[in-house]
Amino acid sequence: MRNRVCELLGIQYPIIQGGLAYVGNGALAAAVSNGGGFGQVGTAGRSPENFKEQVRIAAESTDKPFGVNLPVSEHSDNTPYIEAILEVKDKLTAISLSAGNPKPLVPLFKQAGLKIMIMTASVKHALKAQELGADLVICEGFEAGGHNSPLEMTLFSLIPQVSRELQVPVVAAGGIANGQGVVAAFALGAEGVQLGTLFVATKECEAHDNYKKLLIEAKDDATMVMERSIGRVTRVLKSPFAQKILEFEKTRPTVEELLPYILGRNNRVAAIEGRIEEGWMNCGQGVGLIDTIDSAADVVRRLAREAREVSANLDILQNVFAE
Ligand SMILES: Cc1cc2nc3c(=O)[nH]c(=O)nc-3n(C[C@H](O)[C@H](O)[C@H](O)COP(=O)(O)O)c2cc1C
Repeated sequence: MRNRVCELLGIQYPIIQGGLAYVGNGALAAAVSNGGGFGQVGTAGRSPENFKEQVRIAAESTDKPFGVNLPVSEHSDNTPYIEAILEVKDKLTAISLSAGNPKPLVPLFKQAGLKIMIMTASVKHALKAQELGADLVICEGFEAGGHNSPLEMTLFSLIPQVSRELQVPVVAAGGIANGQGVVAAFALGAEGVQLGTLFVATKECEAHDNYKKLLIEAKDDATMVMERSIGRVTRVLKSPFAQKILEFEKTRPTVEELLPYILGRNNRVAAIEGRIEEGWMNCGQGVGLIDTIDSAADVVRRLAREAREVSANLDILQNVFAE
């Protein structure tokens, strides 16, 4: 195996598709794994039944390893999701736990034979994740699409500070959308990368074409952060609906007042149903690099090829920094 992340997950390239609320379907996870990366079926935005169906689709579409994502504080009750994951555990290699305290779940899923990946966004939480028994720690920077840590640390600062403290492998997430980002993450000390937005813009992802079209058209300045007024940080595509939320936040609403705007169903209507004027869509800052809608398997292979090219060109540093 090529490095510790590849060995742990049994994959060719240390490229992981992050859990994607509403749009992390089975066909996408399988395509990522077929390309040599590690796909994940999301639980967020799905019923336990639909989640199991997506795992079934993924398992039928690939003989390569794949996993699932459980954002711990996303569901009002995790029990049916935990049961669903345990039901399909034999099809899975790993679980990523995000957005909440994973402590009670780690022994449960370890016992089920799954590798544990915990998502964090600071040295303190990364160390805690390692202590809890994470097999690898995913560190997500503020560039990332979706819910981020209110610490708002960027990947460039986060990864070197985390990777020098941890013994388990660190995977970098946030703003990565080409081989340059992959190689940069490794230069900073990561042993793998996790991408979200780029995998939304693929043929297999069940996101609506209207959403994918916006991702292709988007430039570097296309994202904005909402929910800061209630202590949360969610990076989304700029859109009239998202701007409306931001304007409303200026009036300092309570959580209850803001809730009707930020509810997941408003993500669903835009991301899945394509009614982009009526909802918001998660998006990371690397979106300006997305130009085409390709198969997710080809995207993984392209990232690997670009990483080889970029790293070969970095030989020049030996001269630039020669004694
Ligand atoms: C559409 C979308 C939905 C997401 N949903 C989840 C989720 O349900 N659980 C999770 O842990 N992370 C979620 N994320 C974060 C991704 O797993 C990943 O870490 C992040 O997208 C990486 O940043 P990037 O979008 O810049 O590539 C989501 C991201 C996007 C873009």
